[in-house]
Amino acid sequence: MSPRERRPEALVLDPGVLREGPVCEFGSALAVEARGGTVITPWRDRFRAAEAAELNAASDARDLSTATFPQVVVHLQKSRAATFEDLAQAWRILSPGGQLLLTGTNRLGIVSAVKRLAAQLDQSGIVVSNRARARAVRFKRDDGPGPETEMTPPFEARIDAIDGARHEFTVETRPGVFSAKKLDAGSEMLLDALARFVGYKPPKRVLDLGCGTGVLGLAAAMLYPDAEFLLADADARAVECARANIERLGFVDRMRAQWWDAREKPLDTRFDLALVNPPFHYRGPDVDLGPALAIFDSLPGWLGRKGRALLVANRTLPYETPLERVGVLDTLQSARGYKLLSLKRSARSSGSGDRHASGSRSSGSSRALKRSR
Ligand SMILES: C[S@@+](CC[C@H](N)C(=O)[O-])C[C@H]1O[C@@H](n2cnc3c(N)ncnc32)[C@H](O)[C@@H]1O
Repeated sequence: MSPRERRPEALVLDPGVLREGPVCEFGSALAVEARGGTVITPWRDRFRAAEAAELNAASDARDLSTATFPQVVVHLQKSRAATFEDLAQAWRILSPGGQLLLTGTNRLGIVSAVKRLAAQLDQSGIVVSNRARARAVRFKRDDGPGPETEMTPPFEARIDAIDGARHEFTVETRPGVFSAKKLDAGSEMLLDALARFVGYKPPKRVLDLGCGTGVLGLAAAMLYPDAEFLLADADARAVECARANIERLGFVDRMRAQWWDAREKPLDTRFDLALVNPPFHYRGPDVDLGPALAIFDSLPGWLGRKGRALLVANRTLPYETPLERVGVLDTLQSARGYKLLSLKRSARSSGSGDRHASGSRSSGSSRALKRSR
């Protein structure tokens, strides 16, 4: 068995799992490569890879308004709400009698997800593959109402201006988007420090990299009413969520959100302030530092000559060395498991962003015991 076939996602390729005919696949491209059809992924790098492989791809299944498929595969995600959102869309685009395959690892909770889905569909799923500590389970599209989606409630955030004036606002969230339940403690630490970090000279152009709901950029927009903002994230669900918040809070004339992966070139230049709560994900027991390092690498391309960044991170993550390669680094605060870092762009760091265009991404991993974000 090849390493590719050993991957838990590859259960869908086991004999008897897929039927003939095209497939719509949420969260991977393996089944679509085998049978044709459409890949659904909100992640920009995976979307671009699917397109480069000449597969049909969409970032959001709601874009497939009229399509129907005889089979749909949903790969389990860490977020249960995001998985059930996918399952509800899968049900909508399945043709009557078609098969819905839910697949994922035991570690991610496939057993309880299948149990929940079976109760909602009033069917018992059929286990069609069970190996590599993962399983694929088949359900049949019938006339029932289908999977139930879960609401992710909005959360409250606040920021204090340098004169002490407090701004409070509500942030809408979406399943799968970081910090979907409440304001992240790291984001809160950054917001608490922002006004003092900036001082009395307001920034003109502010960047929020890996924006998630957009909370950092939105808060800064309350403090700096004359500044322009760009928010960017590799997850299309985050971009959509940030756009909805921008509109609801009335910032459309000076703030935009873009779908961007850190391994691409910066979309614009000459920002004087970047706000970053970098991503990290687990690969097995190791933290994948790749996305965070790619964001750090991109900073010289985004920032103007005197540009600065305010970053927050889990205290255990080894970000100092890569950030010192980008500019002059200071640790402003270290508390409650987080550290707050200030980065001043140094004259010698390149502003071309060319490293990203060539795709030569720094990557690395680190053992750390915090949860992934
Ligand atoms: C820790 S969250 C911070 C979200 C938000 N700034 C906050 O403070 O709530 C990191 C964000 O980075 C995004 N992200 C992950 N990988 C990325 C990449 N390669 N390029 C750009 N953004 C990425 C994630 O989708 C996520 O929204």
